[in-house]
Amino acid sequence: MSEAAVMTRHAENHVAVPATGCILIIDDEAEIRESLQTLLELEGYEVITAANGAQGLMRSGEKPFDLVLLDLTLPDQDGFSVLSTIRERDAYLPVIMITAYGTVENAVRAMQSGATNFVQKPWDNEKLLADVRETMKRRQAEEENVQLKRALKQRYSFENIVGKSEPMLRVFDLIAQVAASRSTVLIQGESGTGKEVIAKAIHTHSPRKDQPFVPVNTGSMPPDLLESTLFGHLKGAFTSAIASKKGLFEVADKGTLFLDEIGSMGMETQAKILRVLQDKKFMHLGGTHEIQVDVRILAATNVDLQQLVKEGRFREDLFYRLNVISVDLPPLRQRKEDIPLLVDHFLKKYSEENEHPLRRITAEALRPLLQHSWPGNVRELENTMERAVVLSTGTEVGVELLPDNIAGRHVMLPMIDQPGDASLFQILEECERRIITGMLEKCHWNQTDAAERFHVPLSTLNQKIKRLNIEIKKKGRE
Ligand SMILES: Nc1ncnc2c1ncn2[C@@H]1O[C@H](COP(=O)(O)OP(=O)(O)OP(=O)(O)O)[C@@H](O)[C@H]1O
Ligand SMILES: [Mg+2]
Repeated sequence: MSEAAVMTRHAENHVAVPATGCILIIDDEAEIRESLQTLLELEGYEVITAANGAQGLMRSGEKPFDLVLLDLTLPDQDGFSVLSTIRERDAYLPVIMITAYGTVENAVRAMQSGATNFVQKPWDNEKLLADVRETMKRRQAEEENVQLKRALKQRYSFENIVGKSEPMLRVFDLIAQVAASRSTVLIQGESGTGKEVIAKAIHTHSPRKDQPFVPVNTGSMPPDLLESTLFGHLKGAFTSAIASKKGLFEVADKGTLFLDEIGSMGMETQAKILRVLQDKKFMHLGGTHEIQVDVRILAATNVDLQQLVKEGRFREDLFYRLNVISVDLPPLRQRKEDIPLLVDHFLKKYSEENEHPLRRITAEALRPLLQHSWPGNVRELENTMERAVVLSTGTEVGVELLPDNIAGRHVMLPMIDQPGDASLFQILEECERRIITGMLEKCHWNQTDAAERFHVPLSTLNQKIKRLNIEIKKKGRE
């Protein structure tokens, strides 16, 4: 079909709303690629082409496609092997096979291998377009369905936990699955990744939600205190036990006990915890009666428990008891697509808390937030946004409201990145100038304070200020 004929055909079938979606064409014949591309682009689809199997597979990983038109005979590998790789990556992506050798066997084999449809060269444009439209419509409906389900689930279940990255969506699915059971869950992740919020979400979506959720930081207490906190004690059990006290296992009865930082728990306490997990029984310190409780245990750790097991510092049997279900929270630097969402979430939260009109982030300020490595994870991002909201006067949060280390001020020295003609001494001098200027700014240009903070005599600092030509902006406070 000539281009003019395609145009006429298109004009006849003109639809008010152009079709949307992205199609990948994998065919080694340039003429076929071009005519298919013209045909589909006139319909409104976005089209990307590839001339062989390897290129096609590469393209298919570069962006999400809604449909692949795949030639059966390609120069580097046959279409079936390309199809099977596509299927491994995406079980639902529609693939229409195209071939000049349209034998019945090939058609059957294509459908059996997971092709959506089979088209024979030379094809009929109208029929091919009808197939494409039909497939795209189905694909888009399925996609919307999946997104709707996810959105509903998220809005419904986890309104305070924000995330759209694949690992976080998997975590949300897992929470939904495990919340209802009474299984022990081990939540692992670096500090500030949200272990406690996940533990709370599991509790609030469980049948125990109206019973207590009791967090206990097992890492921050000496062993004796921890045991009396967990198991309670009778009056006189130890010298300072002037009155009997309930333990947190009793407080959490019928509810959930969240054992935080479980990696730092001593071996003896571990043995007692294991006993409660196995028999649901324990004794008060100094007591003789066994107490029966029904407590669901959630545990969290920011160290590798398996490594501690190997080193003999954590009981293997307790590890397996706790690790019935494990939730791994990836560090924020590995799920940067969550950052804009979290930024909006915290801006809203702190604007409301501070009774400010809603603050918005500028594109310029979002950039360094996406580049920062967030060693303190979501907590660090939350603190950064709280600070920005508190310091803000207008409705926008710009880069000037971000801390220096995040905004890249004083840190990125162009000379270090690209030394160019600068000598080592010049670079060191520039570093020194910036460090001293930074400290002087912090000390409101009071040289005595700055010298004290640098642990150098005032005269030394003054010499450096002179040598480095640092301009003193304001008079020191006096
Ligand atoms: N996905 C998220 N959405 C919204 N807020 C989050 C999310 N993850 C963490 N936060 C917030 O970040 C802060 C830190 O989270 P949390 O205390 O749960 O981290 P943690 O992993 O328990 O840290 P640590 O190991 O230091 O105890 C909390 O204020 C929490 O509300
Ligand atoms: Mg915590």
